[in-house]
Amino acid sequence: MAPDDLTRPADALVIFGITGDLARKMTFQALYRLERRGLLDCPVIGVALEDWTEDHLRAHARDSIAGTGERIDDRVFRRLARRLRYVCGDFGAGATYAAIKQALGDAQNPVFYLEVPPSLFATVVAGLADAGLVQGGRRVVVEKPFGSDLASARQLAADLHKHIAEEQLLRIDHFLGKLGLEEILYLRFANAFLEPVWNRGFISCVQITMAESLGVKDRGRFYDPVGALRDVVVNHLLQILGSCAMDAPASGAADSHKDAKVAIFRSVLPADPGHCVRGQYDGYRKIDGVRANSTTETYVALRLQIDSWRWSGVPFFIRTGKRLPARQTELRLVFQHAPRLPFIPTTQRHPSPSQLVFRIDPETGIRMVLDARRADKRGASEIELDMEFAREGGEGATPYEELLHDALIGDRSHFTRQDMVEECWRIVQPLLDAPPSVVRYPQGSWGPPEADQLLSGRGGWRGPWLPS
Ligand code: BG6
Repeated sequence: MAPDDLTRPADALVIFGITGDLARKMTFQALYRLERRGLLDCPVIGVALEDWTEDHLRAHARDSIAGTGERIDDRVFRRLARRLRYVCGDFGAGATYAAIKQALGDAQNPVFYLEVPPSLFATVVAGLADAGLVQGGRRVVVEKPFGSDLASARQLAADLHKHIAEEQLLRIDHFLGKLGLEEILYLRFANAFLEPVWNRGFISCVQITMAESLGVKDRGRFYDPVGALRDVVVNHLLQILGSCAMDAPASGAADSHKDAKVAIFRSVLPADPGHCVRGQYDGYRKIDGVRANSTTETYVALRLQIDSWRWSGVPFFIRTGKRLPARQTELRLVFQHAPRLPFIPTTQRHPSPSQLVFRIDPETGIRMVLDARRADKRGASEIELDMEFAREGGEGATPYEELLHDALIGDRSHFTRQDMVEECWRIVQPLLDAPPSVVRYPQGSWGPPEADQLLSGRGGWRGPWLPS
């Protein structure tokens, strides 16, 4: 396969599972926004089992976009609606792929997007291959989760690699489409004063928080076999850790960035169940689709260690939970304590450690927390220097808009790679093999108090920095 084959612009987008939840919440909005920006330039063929007409699909698309809160410009929507086609069929039936082939007409470079449960990835890719639809570097985009542990991720890759090469496979982790992650890397390496202190000589710990105020709601059937560790830690939150901890990529090539991230993941020690707290919010077991005796975690906090010259001895604390008091995702670096300041006789106070915070959701921004003595006030205290950037979905592209566009133009930079996926599963595998027992926490709280003990002697969890 020539490298050019992988970067040819798409002339059709085929979406398996277009009638599903993800399409309703994310995909149609992303397509609409691409259409508005003049970046959608091909037919969109939806495939699903439901017996829908194209008119039904168009009406559903409109409702879905409106449901996201996006303001609809009729002219833009009409352009999008004209692109939509529908193929009804069973993913296991050869006739479905024959119908897709017919709908594709003379398209030479369709991109296939699988918004279906991972258990169907191999069936769909085999169906596409049997119909001769994935030859010559055609791209296949798959949703997370990629496997449910290290062994199943390897098996899934082996099943898919029977039909397509790794380079054809674009694995979505929508956090890689978020603006905040690029901002971390840019700020780190664009400011010469940061790199010299970005290491164990100056940083005491790193804290990553992903708090969600929403609960599992109508996703019980999906969520209960998965849990927080598989749903967001092994992918989204390890990607944040990677952006914080990696060295600068050697070049702008898509694989160069991934090589740098995989290198840091390789230095992360396997998680220790003794440094992990799993929680479940009160009332979770009553959700439709959740087992009455479920021990699935809706909250998890853990400590990771990186065995490298840069990070040895610096703990990385990660916490995430549903039904917490706010929606907030951030990366926080806590620097070491300065010594006491005997030359300031009026204060016995030990200055607090400086902190640098990257807020990723719901808005991006950067905060520096410094300890300062202000001329207008007596004494010293922490001060916060804030810079707030865009709200997701405002001026900037949504993650799915970004990633779908990348898939259409053949830019692989923001998709994960098999070696990266395997490293991430390796890191969390001990927690899957020997999960600590789950503790209950009240809805609207910051999770089980046991999670605070993970940081004992380190001043506890800081923040999060909530939007003003
Ligand atoms: C998804 C998880 O991948 O990410 C959800 O399946 C989670 O459970 C969501 O709520 C969070 O993403 P975002 O972009 O809303 O922060």
